[in-house]
Amino acid sequence: MARKTTANVPGTTDRRIDALLTLLAENATIVISGAKIAKEIGVSRQQVWRWIQQLRTLGVRVKGHPRTGYHIERMPDILVPQMLSHRLYGTPFARRIHHFFKTDSTNTVAMRLADRGEPHGTVVLAEEQTGGRGRAGRSWISEKSAGIYCTILLRPPIPPAHAPLLTLVAGLAARDAAAEDLAGTPDIRWPNDLLVGGRKFAGILTEMHAEPDCVHFAVVGIGVNVNQSKMPPELADIATSLKMETKKTHSRFELLIRLLRHFDRYYNQFLDEGAPPILRRFAEVSSYSQGKRVRITTVTESFTGTTAGLEPSGVLRVSRDDGRGIEPVLSGDVSEAH
Ligand code: BTN
Repeated sequence: MARKTTANVPGTTDRRIDALLTLLAENATIVISGAKIAKEIGVSRQQVWRWIQQLRTLGVRVKGHPRTGYHIERMPDILVPQMLSHRLYGTPFARRIHHFFKTDSTNTVAMRLADRGEPHGTVVLAEEQTGGRGRAGRSWISEKSAGIYCTILLRPPIPPAHAPLLTLVAGLAARDAAAEDLAGTPDIRWPNDLLVGGRKFAGILTEMHAEPDCVHFAVVGIGVNVNQSKMPPELADIATSLKMETKKTHSRFELLIRLLRHFDRYYNQFLDEGAPPILRRFAEVSSYSQGKRVRITTVTESFTGTTAGLEPSGVLRVSRDDGRGIEPVLSGDVSEAH
C-alpha cells in the first residue's frame, strides 16, 4: 500500500489525508465520529477538523462537524492512492503510489525516485503539473484534476533496442482503457498518440536510463485529456478530451484503474511471448500501421510516403514517395498526408 512508501518524497500528499479520504469514501452512507476517525488514522480530532476544512476547499463535500461526526456527500474524482491500491490488487502497481496535488512533472519525479532505487511498478500521479513535458521538447498542458497525469517506473529485463515496445504497450493500454469511454473507436498514431475523430486526446513520453546491453529503468509518462471542457485556441484543431467528444464527465479514477490493469496485461504478454502479440494488436487497432499516407518529420528531413507495418523492434516502416525504398522511422513526427 502507498501508506509505507510516500513519507520521504517532498510534496506528496500526506498519507493520513489519503487515509481520511479513503475512510470517508468507503463509509459514504454513515456518519463517523471525529473521535473514531482520529483514532483510525492516528491524529488528533482538531487535525481531522483542519483536514476536513482543507478537503472542502478541494471540492470534497463533507457534512457534519467534530461533535456529531462526518459523512461524505460528494466524493470528487481525486486519484486517492489507498483506494487505487485496493483496486489494483494483484498488479505491481498496487504497492507504491505517490500522489501529488501539484508537481512540476510526474516523469521528472519518477526519474528522481528511480535514481534513488524505487522498485519496478512504482506509480507517480499528479492532480496538476506545472511543467508537464511532451515529446520533442514540447510541453503538456496539465489542467488541475481535468486529466490523468501518470508515470510508471519500470525495471524491464530487456535490452535498450526493445524499449520502443514499452511505448507501444503503454499506447495499447491507454487505448483499450479509453475505448470504453468513447462511442467512436480510438486510433493510435505511431508510436503512441491516441486520437479520436483525428484529434489527439492522449500522449506518452518514455524516458530511460540504459547502457548498451541493459535498461536500468524506464519511466513511461501517460497524459490523458479526460474532463477538459475546451482546448486552448492554438490546440483546438488538433487536440480534444473525452468530455469534449462525448459531452459527458468521465471518472478519471476508473479510467486510470483500467489503464494500469491493461498495461499489466500487455506488459506481461510482452515479457512472456516477446514482441509478436504486441505488434499484432497494434496492427489491429492502429490505422497508421499499414497503408496510411503520412508525412514524416525528423530532425534532419521531412518526407512523405505510405506506412508498411512495424519492424520486430517496434520501429515504423515507411515506403518513401521519392523512390528511395522503405525507410525505418525510429523517431520523429508522423502526420497524415493527403
Ligand atoms: C506527448 O504526446 O508529447 C507525450 C505527452 C506525455 C505527457 C505525460 S503527463 C504525465 C507525464 N509527465 C510529464 O511531464 N509528461 C508525461
